Amino acid sequence: MFARAAASVAVTITLATIVLATIVLATITLATIDGAAAQTANQPPDTMAARVEACTPCHGNKGEGTSDVYFPRLAGKPAGYLYNQLLAFRSGRRKYPPMNYLLEFLPDPYLEAMAEYFAGEHPPLPQPAPSEVSKDVLAQGELLATSGDASRNIPACVSCHGPGLAGMQPGIPGLLGLRANYISAQLGAWRYGTRTAKSPDCMQQVAGHLTEADVTAVAAWLATRPAPTNPAPVPKGTYALPFGCGSQPN
Ligand code: HEC
Ligand code: HEC
Repeated sequence: MFARAAASVAVTITLATIVLATIVLATITLATIDGAAAQTANQPPDTMAARVEACTPCHGNKGEGTSDVYFPRLAGKPAGYLYNQLLAFRSGRRKYPPMNYLLEFLPDPYLEAMAEYFAGEHPPLPQPAPSEVSKDVLAQGELLATSGDASRNIPACVSCHGPGLAGMQPGIPGLLGLRANYISAQLGAWRYGTRTAKSPDCMQQVAGHLTEADVTAVAAWLATRPAPTNPAPVPKGTYALPFGCGSQPN
């Protein structure tokens, strides 16, 4: 009874957030299109902070994320990676209706500027959440992330995401500061083909070899990682990938 009431409150809040975000974005888009006229009509200036007001209810003021375990952190990820995701939501290649609608009519330079904005923000990483899985499951997750499983064609996650899991410019995101629910939802989306990336889609190849138990284990272990001293993605070309990724040009 209580759980259901709580769930419906949560749904109502999410819907209210989406409606609010849509109104804010529509207002800002109009202000942008109508540039000069808007200024004279005493509209707020078209700053980046104003533009991303539509995003912050779900992603946090600096892209640090919110308490919703499915709303990802954006801050500090490579700008190229974030831009690729915005293009993917705009075209519907990556599916989440509120974001698909929000981005539908935004031009490339606008998306690029928003990607740059969140890439340049560096709020502290959250405290890792206590894990709900057993020590054995965490150990299995660590093994997959750091060594992979050659017998099942699973490369180590660190071979692309970096030894410090901080990602590499321009297209490989770090895997720190994300919640287990979000990570497993993304790996599931690749396994089922509802999230794809530029071909060759290396993440689809990786996720395709993972079982559901692997996904639970690796997502749980990643979410327990403490914040490193320097979570910044390493420069392009710092290490070679085990195989090609369309979203990471050589
Ligand atoms: C109603 C909540 C909501 C709003 C508003 C919203 N987002 Fe999102 N965003 C999400 C969710 C949820 C996801 C993950 C969707 C999925 O499961 O793939 C996401 C994913 C993303 C990603 C991909 C992150 C990653 O690590 O892959 C980017 C980039 C992003 N959003 C940027 C934005 C920007 C910029 C705006 C404002 C124009 C915005 N979002 C507005 C909820 C929202
Ligand atoms: C061959 C290189 C490669 C390997 C190995 C690899 N990844 Fe990735 N991963 C990528 C690339 C490239 C992207 C960005 C794809 C895109 O542009 O959407 C990515 C994206 C992701 C994302 C999305 C992050 C977000 O913010 O939404 C997750 C989660 C992820 N990888 C988890 C893993 C896990 C877990 C493993 C190990 C089991 C792994 N990856 C192994 C290259 C790799």
